Amino acid sequence: MTKRTLGLIMNGVTGRMGKNQHLVHSILAIREAGGVALADGTRIVPEPILVGRNAGKLQALAQEYGLARWTTDLDAALADPAAEIYFDGGATLLRQQNLTKAIAAGKHVYCEKPSASNLEGALEVYRLAAAKDCRHGVVHDKLWAPGMLKLRMLLDSGFFGRVLAVRVEGCYWVFEGDLAAPQRPSWNARKEDGGGMILDMMPHYRYMVDLFGSPRRIVCLGATHVDRRWDESGRPFTATADDSAYAIIELENGVVASVNSSWCFRVRRDDIVTMQVDGTLGSAVAGLRQCFVQRRETTPRAQWSLDLAQPIDFYAGWQEVPDQQPFVNAFRAEWELFIRHVCEDGPFPWTLAAGARGVQLAELADRSWREGRWMDVPDLGV
Ligand SMILES: NC(=O)c1ccc[n+]([C@@H]2O[C@H](COP(=O)([O-])OP(=O)(O)OC[C@H]3O[C@@H](n4cnc5c(N)ncnc54)[C@H](O)[C@@H]3O)[C@@H](O)[C@H]2O)c1
Repeated sequence: MTKRTLGLIMNGVTGRMGKNQHLVHSILAIREAGGVALADGTRIVPEPILVGRNAGKLQALAQEYGLARWTTDLDAALADPAAEIYFDGGATLLRQQNLTKAIAAGKHVYCEKPSASNLEGALEVYRLAAAKDCRHGVVHDKLWAPGMLKLRMLLDSGFFGRVLAVRVEGCYWVFEGDLAAPQRPSWNARKEDGGGMILDMMPHYRYMVDLFGSPRRIVCLGATHVDRRWDESGRPFTATADDSAYAIIELENGVVASVNSSWCFRVRRDDIVTMQVDGTLGSAVAGLRQCFVQRRETTPRAQWSLDLAQPIDFYAGWQEVPDQQPFVNAFRAEWELFIRHVCEDGPFPWTLAAGARGVQLAELADRSWREGRWMDVPDLGV
């Protein structure tokens, strides 16, 4: 068996997503498994170079996982010809600038969503990459969440009949920071630092909704419900970013998607993100791991009754889709496909063009809110 190492610059790995999902659950897990197997039997073993701003944190991280290489000098890392891929999982505002540098340095690039802070920037990095011999990709992790894989299987099987509507409910209560530490970094709550629910979540919703058809138009209402929060050092600040977004997306085929997400919802549903699909023949509700179905034939006969306690246990009328196959971490699944894309030209449609479509939806949602009107979703032609 032949093994080949693949130099991989990982920027932003001291952050939540960078460390947990990309470094530990993806790249280190792939290394532990002996690499990614190509069709010819070669195994590709990624060799990460950790990049960030804080030398102390990087050194501690490298030590914790027995990694040899880290640096605070991104330009020096990009100058290393053995590093073939640049990954960006850092804060959103720096993404376009860092991707631009990496593409200019001749690297293949892979990044977290959003691929830039606005559509113009997202298209610009896409065009830069497309003009070079550059393989590019954007994280679309929800597509490989077990619950979503089960939902896609139902869709492919024709389970739903004609799909009528899709409903996404996302997110959870984020503590303000005075009584309990917040679960998300404080920049998320500051517009000027790249925060905001619409920019954060619409790129995910774009590819989730795209499974059911192309968006024709969107209307969205954003809100900053909680405007006082506390940052990592315990200082109070004014939240300037939207923490909630209530959107309706109409698809070209008439399917209606309603998509609500908020850091001010307290969860009473199956998971922190759920997607319900209602069709003529059946319905399904997918969370991140589980998926439940109800068929036309087994739908309970619901009726208004204000005089009696509700006689129907609505949850009991759903059947769980079993795990029919083993699942790997969703981020790792996409990493493996991207590595195959770079090393053996495997298919990878989740490119910077797809990333730009996600940023487009976020930008249109934001404009819809500001201007108080429906926005058409034009085909970007990329
Ligand atoms: N795919 C998903 O489900 C998902 C979920 C959450 C976040 N994200 C995306 O991942 C990215 C990181 O989010 P996170 O929640 O891990 O954030 P985080 O704040 O935990 O991590 C951000 C990283 O960037 C660095 N950083 C922050 N500000 C910087 C600055 N001004 N200059 C240089 N470096 C800076 C931090 O040190 C850290 O390493 C964001 O773009 C976000 O949209 C994706």
